[in-house]
Amino acid sequence: MSDKTVLTGIKPTGTPHLGNYVGALKPLIEMAKTNKTFVFIADLHALNIIHDPKQIKQHTYEIAAILVALGLDLNNATLFRQSDIVQVSQLSTMLMNVTPKGLMNRAHSYKAALEKNEAAGADADAGVNMGLYTYPILMAADILLYGTDIVPVGADQKQHVEFARDIAGYFNHIYGETFKLPEPMIGADTGIIPGLDGRKMSKSYDNVIPLFAPESELKKKIMRIITDSKLPEEPKNPDESTIFQLYKHFANADEIADLRARFERGGLGYGDAKKILFEKINSVLSAPRMEYERLMDNTSELDKILADGAACARAVAEKTYKRVHSAMLG
Ligand code: TRP
Repeated sequence: MSDKTVLTGIKPTGTPHLGNYVGALKPLIEMAKTNKTFVFIADLHALNIIHDPKQIKQHTYEIAAILVALGLDLNNATLFRQSDIVQVSQLSTMLMNVTPKGLMNRAHSYKAALEKNEAAGADADAGVNMGLYTYPILMAADILLYGTDIVPVGADQKQHVEFARDIAGYFNHIYGETFKLPEPMIGADTGIIPGLDGRKMSKSYDNVIPLFAPESELKKKIMRIITDSKLPEEPKNPDESTIFQLYKHFANADEIADLRARFERGGLGYGDAKKILFEKINSVLSAPRMEYERLMDNTSELDKILADGAACARAVAEKTYKRVHSAMLG
């Protein structure tokens, strides 16, 4: 067991796919085996995009069920819903007052929205709500509330963690040492996980394979992976093949070497390669998929897990928030 506290949040804005599994969920579950870990479903962060409570609730259950079904160790890991801890909203309000507006102006996500508007000839702030603008402050509150040392995130979130660190520094400078300074941990390079069309697997490209798609859908999606037009007998470059790139994340070293050799040798058609890929992914995911489906049919079990997690998280949050309150308001 390390003595570091790890924390990460997952936004309930979509159904997790194989790219999320390989790049984020699987490494997170590994880390939670040896570190005190807080994992929460960032439903407050979803609000700037999704205004339909049913959707947020559905995705919240999906993410909780996925983590439990994949074996997140609930002895080391506290799994909870962000909005269950009121202190995070309170801390966010407090942190607003030590956060320079200029820092928010520099946030990549906000800047991206401005650039999009500019390109479309629209008003600079069109469609930008304050949830988006202050997103990094709420995220800093998430991170600082639980005494976090390490924040495993994708590269796109690195700046947000650096902002949390900056904000902690501004606070400590004014009010004295209150917060630990967190560090981002950008996952070991899993490489780009390709989607059905060979581009990075991403909801915005509509090329994803949902993590727990039913078996028949999984098969259909895999059979739809786009390939070049090489004939079965021709040698193929595994490093340029979406099929092989996905296979690498599910098979063991011997199996990977074997499939690589078959690609390079020629004689393996893409149809057969896809069947091999399907069998492999299905064998890895079928047991957790069953558990996932069971949990999604028993959401009261998920409610209980999330309530237990919230009770644990709240105990830590209350302590931190009290210190902040007394530092700022006496
Ligand atoms: N912003 C993160 C994302 O979009 C989700 C998130 C919210 C988060 N709060 C966090 C991640 C705190 C790490 C730590 O993926």
